[in-house]
Amino acid sequence: MIVGHRAAAIAFFGIITVILIIQSLRLHGVPTIRHVGSQLSSETSADVLNTTLGFQKIFVINLPERTDRHDAMTLAAALTNLQITWAKGVPGSEVPDKVVLGEDWEKSILRGNKGSWRAHMNVLNTIIDQNLTSALILEDDADWDIRLKSQLHIFARAAQPFTQHNPRTTTPSDDKVTNLPITSIPSPPNQSSSSPYGQNWDVLWLGHCGTNFPTSTTLTTPPTNTSLLRVTIPNDPTVPSPQHLKAHPFALQDQLAELYPPHTRVVHPSSGTICTQAYAVSQQGARKLLWRFGVKEALTKGWDLALGEWCDGAFFGVDGSNGNGKQGKGKGGGAPVCVTVQPPLFSHHFGKGAASDITAPGGGFVNKDKEMTPYVRWSVRLNMGRLVEGGEVRDQWPDE
Ligand SMILES: *[C@@H]1O[C@H](CO)[C@@H](O)[C@H](O)[C@H]1NC(C)=O
Ligand SMILES: *[C@@H]1O[C@H](CO)[C@@H](O)[C@H](O)[C@H]1NC(C)=O
Ligand SMILES: *[C@@H]1O[C@H](CO)[C@@H](O)[C@H](O)[C@H]1NC(C)=O
Ligand SMILES: *[C@@H]1O[C@H](CO)[C@@H](O)[C@H](O)[C@H]1NC(C)=O
Repeated sequence: MIVGHRAAAIAFFGIITVILIIQSLRLHGVPTIRHVGSQLSSETSADVLNTTLGFQKIFVINLPERTDRHDAMTLAAALTNLQITWAKGVPGSEVPDKVVLGEDWEKSILRGNKGSWRAHMNVLNTIIDQNLTSALILEDDADWDIRLKSQLHIFARAAQPFTQHNPRTTTPSDDKVTNLPITSIPSPPNQSSSSPYGQNWDVLWLGHCGTNFPTSTTLTTPPTNTSLLRVTIPNDPTVPSPQHLKAHPFALQDQLAELYPPHTRVVHPSSGTICTQAYAVSQQGARKLLWRFGVKEALTKGWDLALGEWCDGAFFGVDGSNGNGKQGKGKGGGAPVCVTVQPPLFSHHFGKGAASDITAPGGGFVNKDKEMTPYVRWSVRLNMGRLVEGGEVRDQWPDE
């Protein structure tokens, strides 16, 4: 009897092993973004492809009671070979009024915003405590493309002009928008130090639900030689065709679709960016943000709006530290360096069932029976069943 059981167990585990090997071959067989990638692959740090995407850690904020999102995120991360660190979400009711700094927060923000603010501040605390060089912060309903690592490999290259040097201040009169194709960006020097994304940045805003292209009229800080720069990634097959470039089904067409040829991704400084599905902070960025929004300022709005304003330079010079239109002294001085990308590389997954814990964005807009993730073609969330059980990966936004 015992022998029979053992044989059955060995056979069972053998079958499981074969299934796992087939699964892993299937995943590794997923094509990368070859035609752009091949020109760049040897030149950007391979660290971008590691299990924390070239950051030191990836944090995922999750309210303990949202076990549904916890389950989905655990699987999504495993299926794309990412190593995540959980960060506890905070219910608004657990944040005493006296720590919020402002007096009138109840008039201007929702209780859920208070919890969200605290959860993000707690992650910044951890990043500073642990002296991490950089970290990616995800909300637990974020989704991404199965080809994320190749996308980030290219993004890291595209970000270099913004993150590598301290920019030179220019005069407003000779400022105009410059488009630079990624292929014309010289290879970054071999990375010996902290980040494959460059050494001089605060925030890389990789997942959002809207951002603007900066123009000379939107700038609120003294213009530099990168304020109006846009790095274009042409013919990117992971970018949906123009009719699908919308934040939600009833949204207006994105500016991106109007201004650039189909399948172009554009990397540029953040301007009016909203939603914090995914953003990376450097150590210097985490310190600046915790000082500004944990120590100094009252909470008056949702965290994503506060971060957006900060990136736009709303606090630049207000304390006299960097005023008079001069670049600050030394590294990290001057206006915040926040770089973003259109379409975003991470996006909000609209699943079936419960809406956001903060408000209910898209509540009336989204067809409750249809799961979807804006902008993300080979969605991990929508392909999860096929990735686990087998089957062809499906493109959510086919060209037609
Ligand atoms: C991934 O690369 C980054 C940047 O070099 C590094 O800080 C991080 O520790 C690496 N992650 C892992 C899991 O090795
Ligand atoms: C934090 O890291 C930086 C460089 O990564 C290092 O110079 C510094 O000594 C570290 N600080 C602590 C307290 O470990
Ligand atoms: C901006 O100016 C800095 C300092 O002069 C320079 O190193 C950098 O290459 C310039 N960037 C661009 C995109 O022109
Ligand atoms: C950069 O690194 C690559 C591979 O590690 C090496 O072949 C190349 O010689 C290095 N370049 C410089 C300038 O050090």
